[in-house]
Amino acid sequence: MSTRLGSVVLVFGESTLNRIGAMSPGLAVVLLASVSLCGCGTEPSDSGAARPSQVGFQTGVRTSLIEEGRKHYNLYCAGCHGETGDGKGEAARFLDPKPRDFQLAKYKFSTNRAGQLPTDDDLRRTITKGLKGSAMPGWDMLPPRTVGSLITYLKTLSPRWETSPDAAPIPRVDDPYRGAEGRSAAIARGEAVYHGFSTCWTCHPAYVSHARINEHLVAMESSPRESFRPNLNESEGKLNSENQMIYPPDFRRDFVRAGAEIDDLYRSIAAGISGTAMPTWVDSIELPSERHPGTSLVTITDLWAMAYYVQSLILERPALLSADAILVRARPQAIYLHGDPPPPPVPEDTAPMGEEFLDDEEFIEE
Ligand code: HEC
Ligand code: HEC
Repeated sequence: MSTRLGSVVLVFGESTLNRIGAMSPGLAVVLLASVSLCGCGTEPSDSGAARPSQVGFQTGVRTSLIEEGRKHYNLYCAGCHGETGDGKGEAARFLDPKPRDFQLAKYKFSTNRAGQLPTDDDLRRTITKGLKGSAMPGWDMLPPRTVGSLITYLKTLSPRWETSPDAAPIPRVDDPYRGAEGRSAAIARGEAVYHGFSTCWTCHPAYVSHARINEHLVAMESSPRESFRPNLNESEGKLNSENQMIYPPDFRRDFVRAGAEIDDLYRSIAAGISGTAMPTWVDSIELPSERHPGTSLVTITDLWAMAYYVQSLILERPALLSADAILVRARPQAIYLHGDPPPPPVPEDTAPMGEEFLDDEEFIEE
């Protein structure tokens, strides 16, 4: 909220600022605090007094921070994210998933619910750690001030930063499984909730047999299934909000982007992933038992159990995958850009040589 407030004032100009400073010291303190929060350094020596001249000074600092951010952005980020931040940098057409379009401000990874804007800390985490399994590098070699300036700059690229209300962080209960003894209980519980309650396998792969899934479903007071999707040991491609086909990770093979520590996985599972099919689980992880009134079949602590379970699958990932396993996008389905329908099939003996290369702007086919 604070940096957004800062930039609203920036638009009003200095005279408004002076009035705000004179009329509402409290607000001005927030402004001062906010500007130093975003990495500008210079702490006001007497922020309690909030002298208008200092507010003006700090606003100037923020403007130069945006300028600084812009320079770093053009140097490090524009090649993928585009000069205007539209996600269409020179390298973008070769990348899957595509670089984020900062003008839409649909950020995926955050500590609040899918659809809401990330916090500065969320952006800092993404920028410094990168997103594994995508082209987004980790920029941990950049000094904190540079990263701060980049964040300030990114937030000028979409009006959503001015208009969206502050998002509450997702609730976070203590992890009851922390410590070595808790781990195996968490993994067993996570398997049951993953397959029997959340049915994560409607998008991600299932990792147990049909019979075992049905045992888990019955234990969660659901009906067993008579049939399952045929490719249950693979993930199902899902369109994202920009109509691009993305594949939920197969945890035994693909990378997860936003980190594989227990805390990272808790965050990704609980918060969900904006603009993709991955739901916000923290709001639907409560189920009272019908058979045993007064008890719960699932509670929020089961999110931790699933984090351990997913991590145990990730740890099964071989250090070196065989060549065919590395081709994570080489699925049997064609990926149609912009939802274009497939062209009519060409009989093999009449297809001129090299046709598949000419056609690849329309679609990419295995
Ligand atoms: C080599 C290409 C490349 C470069 C260079 C690059 N990015 Fe990215 N970036 C990506 C891709 C690809 C994604 C989308 C990954 C995904 O969707 O999982 C991304 C996503 C992001 C996101 C979105 C995270 C979210 O939660 O949605 C942010 C923020 C970001 N990049 C910031 C930066 C900044 C800042 C720089 C420069 C310091 C930068 N990127 C440089 C490729 C790049
Ligand atoms: C309706 C489809 C759907 C369901 C159901 C679903 N997911 Fe996902 N999930 C996705 C998609 C799509 C992505 C990939 C988003 C992307 O490319 O960034 C994803 C990504 C993830 C990630 C990776 C986050 C990262 O850092 O890259 C984790 C972990 C995850 N899901 C766990 C779960 C768990 C656990 C469940 C069940 C509780 C679940 N998902 C249910 C669609 C789904």
